[in-house]
Amino acid sequence: MDKKFKRTTVTSALPYANGPVHIGHLAGVYVPADIYVRYLRLKKEEVLFIGGSDEHGVPITIRAKKEGITPQDVVDRYHTLIRDSFKEFGISFDVYGRTSSEIHRQTASEFFRTLYDKGEFIEKTSMQYYDEEAQTFLADRYITGECPHCHAEGAYGDQCEKCGTSLSPTDLINPKSAISGSKPVMRETKHWYLPLDKHEGWLRQWILEDHKEWRNNVYGQCKSWLDMGLQPRAVSRDLDWGIPVPVEGAEGKVLYVWFDAPIGYISNTKELLPDSWEKWWKDPESRLVHFIGKDNIVFHCIVFPAMLKAEGSYILPDNVPSNEFLNLEGDKISTSRNWAVWLHEYLRDFEGKQDVLRYVLTANAPETKDNDFTWKDFQARNNNELVAVYGNFVNRALQLTQKYYNGVVPACGELTEYDQATLDEFKDVKVKVEELLDNFKFRDAQKEAMNLARIGNKYIADCEPWKVIKTDPERVKTIIYISLQLTANLAIAFEPFLPFSSEKLRHILNMETFEWAQLGNTNLLQEGHQLNQPELLFEKIEDAVIEAQVQKLLDTKKANEEANYKAEPIKENIPFEDFEKLDIRVGTVLECTKVPKADKLLCFKIADGLENRTIVSGIAKYYKPEDLVGKQVCFIANLAPRKLKGIESQGMILSAVNHDGSLSVITPEKEVKPGSCVG
Ligand code: MF3
Ligand code: ZN
Repeated sequence: MDKKFKRTTVTSALPYANGPVHIGHLAGVYVPADIYVRYLRLKKEEVLFIGGSDEHGVPITIRAKKEGITPQDVVDRYHTLIRDSFKEFGISFDVYGRTSSEIHRQTASEFFRTLYDKGEFIEKTSMQYYDEEAQTFLADRYITGECPHCHAEGAYGDQCEKCGTSLSPTDLINPKSAISGSKPVMRETKHWYLPLDKHEGWLRQWILEDHKEWRNNVYGQCKSWLDMGLQPRAVSRDLDWGIPVPVEGAEGKVLYVWFDAPIGYISNTKELLPDSWEKWWKDPESRLVHFIGKDNIVFHCIVFPAMLKAEGSYILPDNVPSNEFLNLEGDKISTSRNWAVWLHEYLRDFEGKQDVLRYVLTANAPETKDNDFTWKDFQARNNNELVAVYGNFVNRALQLTQKYYNGVVPACGELTEYDQATLDEFKDVKVKVEELLDNFKFRDAQKEAMNLARIGNKYIADCEPWKVIKTDPERVKTIIYISLQLTANLAIAFEPFLPFSSEKLRHILNMETFEWAQLGNTNLLQEGHQLNQPELLFEKIEDAVIEAQVQKLLDTKKANEEANYKAEPIKENIPFEDFEKLDIRVGTVLECTKVPKADKLLCFKIADGLENRTIVSGIAKYYKPEDLVGKQVCFIANLAPRKLKGIESQGMILSAVNHDGSLSVITPEKEVKPGSCVG
């Protein structure tokens, strides 16, 4: 760590207690934060890891209303679920608090009050939508109407979910209150604003000049905000869920969720350390690091620092490692569309495999760009890397020790050149991994650790102790001795990444503790040291297990498509004469065959009561030719003939297009004479 710091305060974004947490949360914020903290702890550095639930904000009140329960009920349910999921995944928070706690209300109120008393806010009145029937101001999400861009109904006052455009409530056509359904009116309301424009000068210097080392995505986003010019931001809302604005005459107003939530980091520290919390937040020798997702950058790099600076006694973040997004099987993860791998479901479906998910999410971490999680990749990384490389090496080393030496570390004989070269590769791993972890490059750091396992795996495969034992048993002692040292090193190097496996390994190796400082030491286990019984670290994941997960997602996709289905808008009216021009007839299918070299086309011979005719139709994906022979179909009889794949098609067979694009041929409900008119 940088010499000027004595300790590190690590925060991870407080997830909204409005739904369960999924792999995107884990990959974006909690796994990297946990790796970092575990690494610092292994280095015996002073570190504090703060987490908690973000329990305010409008979406929570909307969910409560929908379910007919109170917002407190909602957050109680999800706070517990989220906290337990994190715990199961080994996310090693020192404290996991919540923003509906009394200590948080007090801390956030005091914080606001300090800024208020120092004159750090400006007061402004503005016009906002008000629901006269429900007698309440309406949050943006509580107003719906027609989108001015795509004209979809049901767009929200802050965004149209159909076309994705950001909106403000006054943009909506025919706005309606989501509470009473009535038409809202404009009413004057007063709010407090943090004048970010006044902070622009020092923020520019602090970020753009003094923190050029921040990740490109973070630095770039900050720069573009700063270049656009900062505006005052409202820090209060008209809402009945949140922390009341602690000022006279502010009835019915609460602190904006993005004002109180980051203060939650402070409240949670206070909850854990009522007497010594200040040193983690106010001592310039403390280093503050925020782990967040990319949608949180402006709040952690600009708004919260401005709040801390305005208060005056706090340190500012030294780094804000932010990840991009993780997609799932090519689509954006979405809570409302249930497009996610939920942690509590993973824990149920993959019992004891927390490290596998941690490994895959780090191997694929969206550190520099959005990344994709696929179940196939998950399986491949488990089977080809964890099982075939790391697990295989460790298992061989342990099993052979058991078999040849009853689990006792043998003496190390003379080293060959190859032995020495292998050990040397382990010597500089400490520096390499450290350098990467210090720079928040978790993906590369884990890769480096995996490389060690590869070296180990290759070493034992090359040395073939199971063969050598027959010719040179003394040599095998050396091979096993070295393999065990490598195993101990791997256990330490992987501890931040795969804590459950390292703990298992620590127990098997019968080591009391691990320390980062031991990394690179290739005499960690002494001759005569007794090991415990070996166990497998990882196991193969079979195709059927993966297929079941993929099927679950396919089912979700189908359910969403059905739920979202809306018929096409009706085309413009036409005069009756235009309709009369169409000659629609019923015909009987005499023959039906596939068109060669065209996977969509079927060729029909149709009895039409006159001379019979040939029609080519693009329905091959949905029908077997033999199933249509003898059926009656409707067709347009007077469409100008045209050639398809060299065949002249004399008309068009009518089909209904289902919501998923599949086709269903139109047939008369009772059999009729071929050539009958439809009209
Ligand atoms: N709840 C927010 C989100 O999920 C994150 C809040 S971070 C904090 O996007 F700093 F406000 F706590
Ligand atoms: Zn729209």
